[in-house]
Amino acid sequence: MNSSNHVRIVEVGPRDGLQNEKAMLPAAIKIELIDRLSDTGLTTIEATSFVSPKWVPQLADAAEVFRGIRKAPGVVYPVLVPNLQGYERAREVGAGEVAVFTAASEAFNRKNVNASIDESIDRFVPVLERARADGVAVRGYVSTVLGCPYQGEVPVADVVRVARRLHELGCHEVSLGDTIGVGTPAKARAMLRAVAAEVPMAALAVHFHDTYGQALANILACLEEGVRVVDSAVSGTGGCPYAKGATGNVASEDVVYMLHGMGMTTGVDLDRLVETGAWLAGQLGKATASRVTRARTAA
Ligand code: HMG
Ligand code: MG
Repeated sequence: MNSSNHVRIVEVGPRDGLQNEKAMLPAAIKIELIDRLSDTGLTTIEATSFVSPKWVPQLADAAEVFRGIRKAPGVVYPVLVPNLQGYERAREVGAGEVAVFTAASEAFNRKNVNASIDESIDRFVPVLERARADGVAVRGYVSTVLGCPYQGEVPVADVVRVARRLHELGCHEVSLGDTIGVGTPAKARAMLRAVAAEVPMAALAVHFHDTYGQALANILACLEEGVRVVDSAVSGTGGCPYAKGATGNVASEDVVYMLHGMGMTTGVDLDRLVETGAWLAGQLGKATASRVTRARTAA
């Protein structure tokens, strides 16, 4: 059991949120979003993604956004890369931390990156080699850890295998993603426990989408299990292009509210985060998915 009271929030809204929003925000607004988030006390803000612009047109302006953001001291701004080409684009603009991604289910991975799980991992090997030489930290994501839109159930053993492989290859942190938000607390706990038997808990993060409204309950179960890194997106933006009806990541405001209410620390100023979430919802022209922001900004 982890007795630490501190949780590091990995803010993924500018990447995971905006990659799936219908509204295409101009680069200047994305830059303003990240700059606002940099003033909330967050220490990790995933800024954008250097994937193929044909696959994710929403983030085609990755280079412009990364160049334009204020790099606040004490804050890291990782970016997603699917292959060496993405890594090179990220390095060109000075990214100091990257994230690679694969899945625990073959069918999802094929739709997401047009490759089998093993093929996608083969593409990371040169990325990890280069990153090690460049002193760039690499995070690894495993998607579909609690269910797949095509395959349905995903065996825990498959999650463990992929997470262990990413860690062995040199990912300093492995984020376990319930991509379509179908997990429930006992399953989330059992999955995390099985992975933590092979990868140190200190190197694990949890990443819940909130499609079925289970994300906070799942996070609580995983905190009880000992995880201390939680991914979330301000205003709960996003969805999944490969999963009908899937909604965004759990809202950062709601996670921070829960953690502070439990006497845990995040270093995040909830009022500023709520302000940013409300502002972002305005930019996207839609209601915020954060219950906390709705409650705090109700007239
Ligand atoms: P492909 O079409 O199989 O790749 O895509 P390719 O290598 O044959 O390249 C095709 C074209 O893309 C070529 O251009 C390449 O140059 C270009 P063309 O010759 O046709 O003009 N290309 C690139 N361009 C820019 N940057 C690059 C890049 N790589 C190739 N890095 C590929 C394979 C992986 C590129 C594609 O499938 C892809 O970009 N997929 C990304 C999908 C994605 O971003 N999904 C969302 C992120 S994952 C996620 O959200 C889950 C997560 O949140 C956790 C969770 O919730 O579970 C992390
Ligand atoms: Mg995600």
